[in-house]
Amino acid sequence: MLEKKWWHNSVVYQIYPRSFCDSNNDGIGDLKGIISKLDYLKELGIDVIWLSPVYKSPNDDNGYDISDYKDIMDEFGTMEDMDNLLQEAKVRNIKIVMDLVLNHTSDEHKWFIEAIDNPNSKYRDYYIFREAVNGKEPNDLESIFSGSAWKLDEKSGQYYLHLFSKKQPDLNWENEDMRNELYDMINFWLDKGVGGFRLDVIDLVGKQPDKKITGNGPKLHEYIHEMNNKTFGNKDVLTVGETWGATPEIAKLYSNPSREELSMIFQFEHIGLDEIPGKSKWDLAPLDFIKLKEVFNKWQTELKNEGWNSLFWNNHDLPRIVSRWGNDSEEYRELSAKMLATILHMQMGTPYIYQGEELGMTNVKFDSIDDYRDIELLNMYKERLSKGYKEEDIMKSIYAKGRDNARTPMHWDDGENGGFSKARPWIKVNPNYKYINAKKNLEDKNSVFNHYKRLVQIRKEEETVVYGNFELLYKDHKSIFAYIRELNNEKILVVANFYGDNEEFILDKNLNYKNCEILLSNYKDSNNNIEKINLRAYEAIIYKLS
Ligand code: NOJ
Repeated sequence: MLEKKWWHNSVVYQIYPRSFCDSNNDGIGDLKGIISKLDYLKELGIDVIWLSPVYKSPNDDNGYDISDYKDIMDEFGTMEDMDNLLQEAKVRNIKIVMDLVLNHTSDEHKWFIEAIDNPNSKYRDYYIFREAVNGKEPNDLESIFSGSAWKLDEKSGQYYLHLFSKKQPDLNWENEDMRNELYDMINFWLDKGVGGFRLDVIDLVGKQPDKKITGNGPKLHEYIHEMNNKTFGNKDVLTVGETWGATPEIAKLYSNPSREELSMIFQFEHIGLDEIPGKSKWDLAPLDFIKLKEVFNKWQTELKNEGWNSLFWNNHDLPRIVSRWGNDSEEYRELSAKMLATILHMQMGTPYIYQGEELGMTNVKFDSIDDYRDIELLNMYKERLSKGYKEEDIMKSIYAKGRDNARTPMHWDDGENGGFSKARPWIKVNPNYKYINAKKNLEDKNSVFNHYKRLVQIRKEEETVVYGNFELLYKDHKSIFAYIRELNNEKILVVANFYGDNEEFILDKNLNYKNCEILLSNYKDSNNNIEKINLRAYEAIIYKLS
């Protein structure tokens, strides 16, 4: 068994500060707004906040384009506010995990400004500049935000690499001085007492653009090991890498403690199951449910004792899960949101809740493209229009997959702008805040919020949920998701109906137990006869057998 760590039974809550809570009524969320909601998070029971970037930034990509890693974005507040947030969170036993964007900076970072102004300065090599080839881009590498990944620097005639927007030039990790400057910055935040880091697209830092290698480059793990040793390795913090291309084999390289790299990674294999293989996220396909079970099962079993999983349905880049794989109709929204949460939270790993997920917040459909803000989505819209796609089809993709689905302001109550701000928010509020909001959830003991709260508590009370063996049942069943967690003589059985029709089934396993107790269900009157289980639409039940 792995050495026990504090983050093994912790639950993380992700805050996207721009959309969380606006304290000064300028339409943009801020640090003081977050401080004002810490008691709400304490009530939910979470242990850690992952804060999407709050550093100085011109906001081409909402803070993922950093112009000063050691300063705070003006709209969000000051360093004093940040110190207060750390302090106020600490009082409540909540740790703050910062978002580290180490693959690129903003083009307004002083290193890049100097690199452009003075091609002979040492900062030129902090980035990736290449000569033109036949008067054109060095090669056909594409940006994840559409178009070429190379932009011409008119002054020198060379091109620089940007795997994201033009305003996010990629850093050159081959340069040791550059790496050391990043490590100093990481230590600056560790000295402030942060509880860890989420490492943005960390699997790209070993890139070899001349060979068109972007993810999982040859020196990637060497760099991460070095960073670990020079920064957080001797601190008891949580580190989680964002790694789109990870397989379980790769995940073990990152998260096996003996390798001294990261605590865990975000893998995205389950996330791509409603895409057409080989195409982009915008090309929609129905979810392959059997495959979903297979993917979870693989990650649960393969990482056992050799790494650690993170568990998530949502983040600021993904559509809302209840609109995606649940059912966001009035009748089934709450039931299906709770069902999805149950399936995820009883697995082995550290669960992440994205702001508003605990209320069952849904995707949004704005009529006009002018109401959207996300650079990825807007670039795709322009590119597809110019390629002759029908606008209607483009909007369909945006409604299903656009990142702004997750970025509309948090719903605190049914007042103006959902209680997020008294000013016009930077992006429109989802109109359903009138009936989906935190105030209403807190008042209702059967709310989605209270279901999440109970899931967090169960993880604290039942060691079986944290360390128990995972066994998937009914892997080929077309609508049942069921599994057992087992530790010593205790078993936790999770059964869920992923869809809207009644399902009756006989448990085909001798579970050998005396007592059966329901720990949680999303219906008031679930049956505790597990020999013959009848699951209604989206019903999900957690049994404890001893
Ligand atoms: C991943 C982040 O989650 C996303 O929001 C951002 O646009 C890219 N990395 C670039 O930093």
